Amino acid sequence: MGRSAPLAVLAGLIFVNCCSKPVISWPANDQDASDMSLPDYDQYLGEYLKPDDSLALLLDYDGTLAELTTHPNLSEMSVEMRQSLRNICNSGKAFVSVISGRDVDGVKKKIGLENVIYSGNHGLEVLYPNGTRQNQGIPKEVADNFDKMVDHLNREVVHHGSWVENKRVSLTFHFREAEQKYIPEMAARATEIIESYGYRANPAHAAVEAKPPIEWNKGLAAEFILGTSFDENWRQRKVIFAGDDTTDEDVMKMIKGTGRSFRVTKDKDLVTNADHKIPSVDAVYHLLKWIESRICG
Ligand SMILES: *[C@@H]1O[C@H](CO)[C@@H](O)[C@H](O)[C@H]1NC(C)=O
Ligand SMILES: *[C@@H]1O[C@H](CO)[C@@H](O)[C@H](O)[C@H]1NC(C)=O
Ligand SMILES: [Mg+2]
Repeated sequence: MGRSAPLAVLAGLIFVNCCSKPVISWPANDQDASDMSLPDYDQYLGEYLKPDDSLALLLDYDGTLAELTTHPNLSEMSVEMRQSLRNICNSGKAFVSVISGRDVDGVKKKIGLENVIYSGNHGLEVLYPNGTRQNQGIPKEVADNFDKMVDHLNREVVHHGSWVENKRVSLTFHFREAEQKYIPEMAARATEIIESYGYRANPAHAAVEAKPPIEWNKGLAAEFILGTSFDENWRQRKVIFAGDDTTDEDVMKMIKGTGRSFRVTKDKDLVTNADHKIPSVDAVYHLLKWIESRICG
């Protein structure tokens, strides 16, 4: 344990909690969250989503549909969450897309539903229910550097509990389990290494991500998925999105004004593009249940 104890305790406070506690909610960007009440999805969405509307439901996976865990392998979506998502998929009135930082096959395996449009690597990969895959073009010289970058990170910064999650077109260097005293230097050095191979280094939850230097993010991915799944008039359709991370803000920006978005966070002061903050994965479950009763009921 040693010096990693405070970090573990902090992570526990932030990430592991509240399935049994009352659900709380507060308005986006509200500095005074002392007045917390049940998330009132009737109030948030009642005017927006009518029973006969056709809906696109876009969701992040880690930290949104499933609790964050110390290792991505350990993450599990609850049986109830999966059932509610299945009911929405099968309603005939909604399509569901899960846009994740994981690789696309990894996120499909975690969700385990057929009728979902899966997108991986923050939208670089899309896998439709009919089996069609759509990947963004990555320049060959950049793609050729990928394995060298993985080797270099493994050689130089993987130690004392940190590790590389290889997602084939991008990677995540994780240090959530690393000893605290090594973290600042290993994060800084990982960033340098990633950039030296022509990839973009982005800070994430206890991690640094390496992404190919092409103009792509979850917001553009969402726009692409909506365009291929609805029609060019998708902006007149109803779109609801929930996500917990900074990479999800691009989706929130993209649907601002036309859709409705939720940022999963316990940080009262966090500034977000989302329409509302909700505090937990459990609150996301209540969101799905609300949508389900609205469109299937
Ligand atoms: C996580 O899962 C992958 C693929 O199933 C496996 O190769 C890897 O060893 C697992 N890691 C841990 C820490 O369980
Ligand atoms: C699969 O679905 C996508 C999205 O709806 C569509 O663009 C593509 O043409 C389909 N492919 C086949 C083989 O039906
Ligand atoms: Mg997430």
